[in-house]
Amino acid sequence: MISKNMEKAINGQINNELYSAYLYSAMSADCAFKGLKGFANWFMVQYHEEMLHAMKFYEYVIKMGGKVRLLAIKEPPAEFKSPMDMFQKTLAHEQFITKCIGELVELAKKEKDHATEVFLQWYVTEQTEEEENDNDIIAQLKLIGSDTAALYLLDKEKATRLTTVPTDFSKGVEAAMKAAGGA
Ligand code: FEO
Repeated sequence: MISKNMEKAINGQINNELYSAYLYSAMSADCAFKGLKGFANWFMVQYHEEMLHAMKFYEYVIKMGGKVRLLAIKEPPAEFKSPMDMFQKTLAHEQFITKCIGELVELAKKEKDHATEVFLQWYVTEQTEEEENDNDIIAQLKLIGSDTAALYLLDKEKATRLTTVPTDFSKGVEAAMKAAGGA
């Protein structure tokens, strides 16, 4: 079981993860509109990852006998200045998510909720990877500067990113993750 306090905090985090999915699909749409099909693909893969993060929390609340509450998702921006603007905003958002996960860990420790503390470790590790990916792409974009030919090539490279997480949660996240090879 989880406390009412923890249930509320995780429901808040489900909303944060769903907003992340919303934000990255907005970035994907803006990239597609501007002809940056590779970056559009990269952000669409990210959208799927965020849906997994949300649904993994969703399933955990249910598994622990809690009640999932889906809160309103705020509207993300629709326009971004450049790929650099998008990735800087992505990094800032992921740093916020890392802080939120850290606060959940602190709450689990305070409540001596060992099961949730262990469950959250997956997200702690995931956040390190998320921030690293964003830092790497920001570094690549800095190298490119205003070289449009190099940006064209980087966009082509980002078209190769594949969705490695399950996208069908109809049978539950754990089963879907196992079927997809334990993403
Ligand atoms: Fe679910 Fe990108 O943090």
